[in-house]
Amino acid sequence: MSFYHGKKVLIVGGSQGIGRALAVQLASQSASVYVAARGQQALDETVELMKQAGGAGVVGSVSFDVTDRDAVNAASAQVLEALGGLDVLICNSGFAQAELFSKADPSDFDRMMAVNFHGHVNVVRSFVDHFIGQGHGDICLVSSMMGFLPLFGYSAYSASKFAIIGFGESLRQELKLHGVRVTMYYPPTTETPGLARENESKPAAVWKLEADNSFSKTYTAEQVAQSMARCIERGVVHGMIGADSKLIYTLNRLLPGLARSLTDGEVKSAVKKAQTEAPPR
Ligand SMILES: NC(=O)c1ccc[n+]([C@@H]2O[C@H](COP(=O)([O-])OP(=O)(O)OC[C@H]3O[C@@H](n4cnc5c(N)ncnc54)[C@H](OP(=O)(O)O)[C@@H]3O)[C@@H](O)[C@H]2O)c1
Repeated sequence: MSFYHGKKVLIVGGSQGIGRALAVQLASQSASVYVAARGQQALDETVELMKQAGGAGVVGSVSFDVTDRDAVNAASAQVLEALGGLDVLICNSGFAQAELFSKADPSDFDRMMAVNFHGHVNVVRSFVDHFIGQGHGDICLVSSMMGFLPLFGYSAYSASKFAIIGFGESLRQELKLHGVRVTMYYPPTTETPGLARENESKPAAVWKLEADNSFSKTYTAEQVAQSMARCIERGVVHGMIGADSKLIYTLNRLLPGLARSLTDGEVKSAVKKAQTEAPPR
């Protein structure tokens, strides 16, 4: 029987992209799944897809903005009531906007930290007493490959995704004493509506950098969702998909100087190319 059979799951940022793919997969395995996000229409569509997936669990949605603490607290009470508890909390909300730090508006920095980092903190805080009280459960904090290897043009995004890891490492130690596991997950480039929006903001040099990077592949939302579900099930602390992600992670940890000099070389060449060629739009 699937690990998720009969489990009560909340996916924040579950209305589209990776979160939606995960919701449908877990619902099909007879988990009871609530999805949360701001937009009600996408939430309704996801609930319909979960119903069509044919599992035996309860499915539903709740709408809130992760930056609004009062709304988060109200929604968490609603979810605990509707599901009759919670076993797995997945903090997946977030967005990326690429821009050079020298050109970025300070409010873009504030917004990315508020949604990507403080959003996860707000959601975890609203459920932490529940998890400590029940003495078991899983919390997954979705970061990014840029949560350990920052990329040129992503200073705000990388900072917000690094912050999740600092928070997650400390939280993991604290909650382990109460039987609660914490997984930090690092998606790579994944085909989602969020990626499509991010692509609209990419400076030419970032396009070049990605085009020339032979290491990292692009995955589907379904592939990443499946990997994330498996990592949570196995209690993996730092979860990621594919040999490419694992190679980059290991290289960066064991040989940070080499990783830095390879990246610096790629950035230099990408910036040069971007100055002479048009971006591949
Ligand atoms: N796709 C990639 O290439 C990639 C790579 C690395 C990491 N990631 C990370 O993986 C996660 C999912 O990415 P994705 O590409 O699937 O994104 P996506 O398609 O844009 O979906 C993001 C989800 O988060 C919700 N959300 C965004 N802001 C929110 C807010 N303020 N309050 C509540 N919900 C909010 C969105 O719904 P509403 O907008 O309706 O609220 C949606 O359900 C994100 O944390 C992202 O940073 C993605």
